Amino acid sequence: MNASTDDNVIPMPHADARGMQPRGYMSGFGNHFATEAEAGTLPEGQNSPQRVAHGLYAEQLSGSAFTAPRAENRRSWLYRIRPAAMHGPFERCVQPRLHDDFGDGPVSPDQMRWSPMPLPETPVDFVDGLYTVAGNGSAAAQTGIAVRVYASNTSMQGRWYYSADGEQLIVPQQGRLRIATEMGVLDVEPQEIAVIPRGVRFRVELPDGPARGYLCENFGAHLRLPDLGPIGSNGLANPRDFLSPQAAYEDLEGDFELVAKFQGHLWRADIGHSPLDVVGWHGNYAPYKYDLRRFNTIGSISFDHPDPSIFLVLTSPSDTAGVGNLDFAIFPPRWLVQQHTFRPPWFHRNVASEFMGLVHGEYDAKAEGFAPGGCSLHNCMTGHGPDAATFEKASDADLSKPDVIRDTMAFMFESRAVIRPTQQAVDAGHRQRDYQACWAGLKRNFSAPRG
Ligand SMILES: [Fe+2]
Repeated sequence: MNASTDDNVIPMPHADARGMQPRGYMSGFGNHFATEAEAGTLPEGQNSPQRVAHGLYAEQLSGSAFTAPRAENRRSWLYRIRPAAMHGPFERCVQPRLHDDFGDGPVSPDQMRWSPMPLPETPVDFVDGLYTVAGNGSAAAQTGIAVRVYASNTSMQGRWYYSADGEQLIVPQQGRLRIATEMGVLDVEPQEIAVIPRGVRFRVELPDGPARGYLCENFGAHLRLPDLGPIGSNGLANPRDFLSPQAAYEDLEGDFELVAKFQGHLWRADIGHSPLDVVGWHGNYAPYKYDLRRFNTIGSISFDHPDPSIFLVLTSPSDTAGVGNLDFAIFPPRWLVQQHTFRPPWFHRNVASEFMGLVHGEYDAKAEGFAPGGCSLHNCMTGHGPDAATFEKASDADLSKPDVIRDTMAFMFESRAVIRPTQQAVDAGHRQRDYQACWAGLKRNFSAPRG
């Protein structure tokens, strides 16, 4: 059921809250961290003492089955002013553009592209600014993704959000985000990403005002760094460049609101205090951020364009080896030095389905029409590739000299399952209905050899 059709619409009230200050970061991907905002908070040598220091409550937050293999096991212990159980009863609420309704009817195999999501003209916070573009699977099936964009202009005030359905990979395109979470503060700017684990409560503040970007909610296995195979022990995204926040907390009481996404629908509850009241925590289940400009890009130094799997930042594996529920890849600045080669990405059809966005600059396979903040969708076996202008230029390029792509940061959410556009995205005014025309100018150059 589409959330927008629900009769039980309950408006989301707003209230005031003060900001929470960042306290720095800890380095490493999936590390077991220990951090406290007040000295002496963390218990020594155990997790759950009879009485926690400073009158706090101990609470475990598990992000994997208790019995998951050690390498897959994710959990943290939180020492907080009040347990997470303390809030009023949940009742349904609706943000009509934020849902997991990807339809169950026919899905068009057309190539699709959208211009940037327009920024709002009335006050809209991060949650109200979320807009579902496409997706597959479901939270109930524990597989698939929801692809969203956000366009917001107001900090969340007096309310907090969490998703019980999946971790959230946030890719800012315009404007910084201050993401105040239960486990500390992440400051994220365009060309950085943030990942908020399933269940972690947070508030998004907008220090620059209007903000726009992309969000992928991952219903499947946790995102992780890909294996590097013959690349070796270094390269692509290096583990120490991932940063998790030092513990920080706020001690606020008032008439506030907790918004939950649960099984594809939104719920709200009254809460009399800020849930960002974790004074210390330890464990390996935590939010993190990463600067995409630190990606160690690898490419061909002989001939031909490699498969784009060399651009993989994070992957959520499926139950089939080497096949991603979600692959997050980027196309960063890089040198092009290949000889006797068509240097841009080639024409292709893939078994995987590809959603692309552009954070910064230009994308090298499209001369125009793919603006920062825009997005495109090329589903399973749908042909796509460079547009006519790019093909002509690259076919005549002087390959005796290296070329450099300086200003760019494109990305891809790739999935093993077809990524189904939502009805609102198909009908959207900012969808480019003439997108296929970008290939119309490709000339018929064939001439049969005579002989
Ligand atoms: Fe592609």
